[in-house]
Amino acid sequence: MTWTDDLRALAPLAARAPSPHNAQPWTFDFTDDALTIGWDPARALPAGDPTRRDLHLCLGGCVETWLIAAADAGIDIRAEIFVDESTRTVARLLPADTPYATDFASADIAARACARGAHLAARLDPEQIARARLQLTTAGLTELPSRELADLAVRADRRLWSAPGVAAELRSWLRLTPRHPRYHQDGLSYRALAMSRAEALGLRAVLAAHAARPLAPLLAATQAGLLRREGSVLVLSGRPETAEEMVAAGRELVRVWYALAAQGIAVHPLSQLIDCAETERELRRRIGARPLAVFRAGLPVSAPPRSARLP
Ligand SMILES: Cc1cc2nc3c(=O)[nH]c(=O)nc-3n(C[C@H](O)[C@H](O)[C@H](O)COP(=O)(O)O)c2cc1C
Repeated sequence: MTWTDDLRALAPLAARAPSPHNAQPWTFDFTDDALTIGWDPARALPAGDPTRRDLHLCLGGCVETWLIAAADAGIDIRAEIFVDESTRTVARLLPADTPYATDFASADIAARACARGAHLAARLDPEQIARARLQLTTAGLTELPSRELADLAVRADRRLWSAPGVAAELRSWLRLTPRHPRYHQDGLSYRALAMSRAEALGLRAVLAAHAARPLAPLLAATQAGLLRREGSVLVLSGRPETAEEMVAAGRELVRVWYALAAQGIAVHPLSQLIDCAETERELRRRIGARPLAVFRAGLPVSAPPRSARLP
């Protein structure tokens, strides 16, 4: 048995890392002396994420999750980050002399989840945000009252749903019935999207009739309704200039999500606010920095469902 065999046993836990549309784009290549983390282009989102911002953030989150899982299992490793487009790799995990220093453990990885339904109607208190900020090394974290972003979210959602490529890509990751062949493996289940069975079947029928566009105002309004309640939106910001720096920002992003999860706080990402150029500019103006990730954060009214993962 080599140390990478021990590491391999942690793959199901590391794969609990979050990913856009739950596409799980990471690949894990184990050899005797390293675990190489890369990505599968078939699981990237070229229409919705043309700059690969979210791909690199998510792969960074995956690297961080591996480091936490290994530290908790007593395996001393470190990450060497190098984004290579030709081999589609982002990092190598190598043996280290000391354990990876982290505030988190496997239980935090397992506890984290996105909660897209209602959160308790309250803003986060400064102490809760301060605990999350402790996890940052270069990125910033700004809190905004969620109400202030409701109209912006409507604009962003309408823009994105009327971009045929983005809507088609999202559709391919929707799992609107448990009978979907990949329901238990990947994508966004109707339960994860906080939809009832009836709402999901309704959406499925409309999508089958190729009528996604008229739905845009409805979907945008549902999201905006949640934002109009009392609550907090957090914006991670930074100045990454290279793919490696974006991967590093992804590590900070999941550390913030784990720090929130450790306090019972769930997140609901709202990447559309950054994906839409017009709302991104507005957000950038408001926080005075480049937004990298935006998410509603609060105590979920009901426990979010556990998202699917590839076997
Ligand atoms: C970089 C990044 C961007 C994301 N953007 C969105 C988003 O815009 N809207 C959303 O509902 N979820 C978004 N998510 C959350 C994923 O959909 C979620 O992680 C995935 O479905 C797995 O679910 P889980 O996080 O509950 O395990 C994003 C996740 C990551 C890592």
